[in-house]
Amino acid sequence: MALLLALLAFLLVAGDGQMLYKDSRQSIEARIKDLLRRMTLEEKIGQMTQIERAVASQAVVRQYGIGDVLNGGGSAPAERAAPNVWEDMVDDYQIGAMSTRLGIPVIYGVDAVHGHNNVYGATIYPHNIGLGSSRDPELVRRIGAATALEVRATGMPYAFAPCIAVCRDPRWGRCYESYGEDTQLVRSMTKIIQGLQGSPPPSHPSGYPYVGGPSKVVACAKHFVGDGGTVKGIDENNTVTTYRQLVQVHMAPYLDAIAMGVSTIMISYSSFNGIKMHANRFLVTEVLKNRLGFQGFLISDWEAIDRITDPPKQNYTYSVLTSVNAGIDMIMVPFDYQNFINILTGLVKSGAVSQSRIDDAVTRILRVKFAAGLFEAPKANRKLNNKVGAEDHRELAREAVRKSLVLLKNSARSGSSKNILPLSKTAPKILVAGTHADDLGLQCGGWTITWQGGSGQTTIGTTIRQAIANTVSQSTQVVYEQSPDANFVKDKGFSYAVVVIGEQPYAEIAGDNLNLTIPSQGIDTIRNVCSSLRCVVVLISGRPLVLEPHIDMMDALVAAWLPGSEGQGVADVLFGDHDFVGKSSRTWFKRVDQLPMNVGDMGYDPLFPYGFGMTMRQQ
Ligand SMILES: *[C@@H]1O[C@H](CO)[C@@H](O)[C@H](O)[C@H]1NC(C)=O
Ligand SMILES: *[C@@H]1O[C@H](CO)[C@@H](O)[C@H](O)[C@H]1NC(C)=O
Ligand SMILES: *[C@@H]1O[C@H](CO)[C@@H](O)[C@H](O)[C@H]1NC(C)=O
Repeated sequence: MALLLALLAFLLVAGDGQMLYKDSRQSIEARIKDLLRRMTLEEKIGQMTQIERAVASQAVVRQYGIGDVLNGGGSAPAERAAPNVWEDMVDDYQIGAMSTRLGIPVIYGVDAVHGHNNVYGATIYPHNIGLGSSRDPELVRRIGAATALEVRATGMPYAFAPCIAVCRDPRWGRCYESYGEDTQLVRSMTKIIQGLQGSPPPSHPSGYPYVGGPSKVVACAKHFVGDGGTVKGIDENNTVTTYRQLVQVHMAPYLDAIAMGVSTIMISYSSFNGIKMHANRFLVTEVLKNRLGFQGFLISDWEAIDRITDPPKQNYTYSVLTSVNAGIDMIMVPFDYQNFINILTGLVKSGAVSQSRIDDAVTRILRVKFAAGLFEAPKANRKLNNKVGAEDHRELAREAVRKSLVLLKNSARSGSSKNILPLSKTAPKILVAGTHADDLGLQCGGWTITWQGGSGQTTIGTTIRQAIANTVSQSTQVVYEQSPDANFVKDKGFSYAVVVIGEQPYAEIAGDNLNLTIPSQGIDTIRNVCSSLRCVVVLISGRPLVLEPHIDMMDALVAAWLPGSEGQGVADVLFGDHDFVGKSSRTWFKRVDQLPMNVGDMGYDPLFPYGFGMTMRQQ
């Protein structure tokens, strides 16, 4: 009898100790069920909490059972931190998570929106506006795969990308994060998700998160929905339209993303007809989860629940209640996590937030963590370190730069019979000028090393001036002057000039702009140079800018968008080693008072229509 009882006790302990959820041979759903029933409310709410690395530590992750950590744009463990420093940091949080009662790993997320852009030395690809102009979804898929490797190479499993906004107004400071103004174009570019996460097999159920192995990452389609449709392009503002238009113009790319198994979706700061998306239960739960069958998790944007009220955080209880009940699963708090946890705990205890809503959120978060293999391989794979800024990735970025360039003008001015492009590699003496000609930071734009981006040698790469010097013959003298005056240019024996000018870097609200003019320093340079020399102007910008009347002064004009770290791609095309293939992802307006103006609109009267882009063979 005693033996029997002992055996029984042993079986019970062994049974309970079996920890089904840790057994990778079990189905994901069985593992979730097993794990969820073991979790306390405290542990569940911890999973729903995403905090910033600045307030995170091994101890905090362990104490609160934090489910998720991120770094905001520009937040790094050290200046110019090497890949292994990032890995040490992420692994440290992971050690905290693994030492909790149930050992649920954290998922670390990062804004890798044009390459792994927070990390010094990573490959920086053109921003999406340029990739959209390439019209090459397969290229974009390859960029997704290369970016996934670089993100994993720093120990991170989760990228807040892609942005599948359909930007309908270039006055918006995030317009460059959009692949273009046309829904079909954006839909085609969702193929980047297959690069980031891998391509699911045909049998994979639509809507179910998919991550195809340890060199892939969890992707995040953002920002649901209507972020690119706000009034006057004001960031985080109001998208005023019919439900039908919202679906047709802005929501359609989410159907593609969901069909591909995108694992997470980020909610937009913006409102739809006056209702904040973060409070919009109908669109978030009824449409996205129930009708579209999305089974991954929904994440809020940075402090976005705070901004449900105006002023922000006027009533944080209301913010937490409304966003969680709207159906958001993971909250990017990111700093005030104790307050968030206390408030959400109170709301569940009072019944204002149901236990089933919490279970839905945690089920989805665990589903993504299991799909990503985090329970099996929570730590960084140090063998990948050399992937950050790898040579083959830089080659890929260079190809992307070549394909994203849009040739807007190529003429024979000043009595010459030949178009200025392609440029001669053997001219004896040429001038390279302009604020953006020799500035890596400016050619990368916002979301590069820091949130807003910056100027100068902010990371590793090739400036356009360096690229030109690499390309011309040894006997060609390349003179570089950032802001030459008219006297500098005259009678110096220059064969031609390359003028590279454009916008200063910006991100999000700081980039909102109602005049869309070329900064005056650039105009001065165009005037000083092009009045006495044949010139090609390369415009570095996150969107079309007002070109009239300056365009008449130029022999050729190239929209290079925000090309990123591999400036060599610009020289590859200017000097004719490759022809232009880019077709503008945006309508080039004449005047800002025409905005918003998009392809298909009534009274469409652009300077260059959507899809415009010449080759050098064309006259
Ligand atoms: C939109 O912007 C205007 C002007 O800045 C502001 O007054 C308004 O509150 C904003 N609306 C929303 C929904 O954010
Ligand atoms: C804050 O919001 C909560 C939840 O909606 C509500 O119960 C409470 O009365 C609000 N507080 C104030 C001061 O308005
Ligand atoms: C255009 O708008 C931007 C952003 O508001 C501002 O910084 C700039 O000075 C304006 N330029 C002109 C010429 O008005």
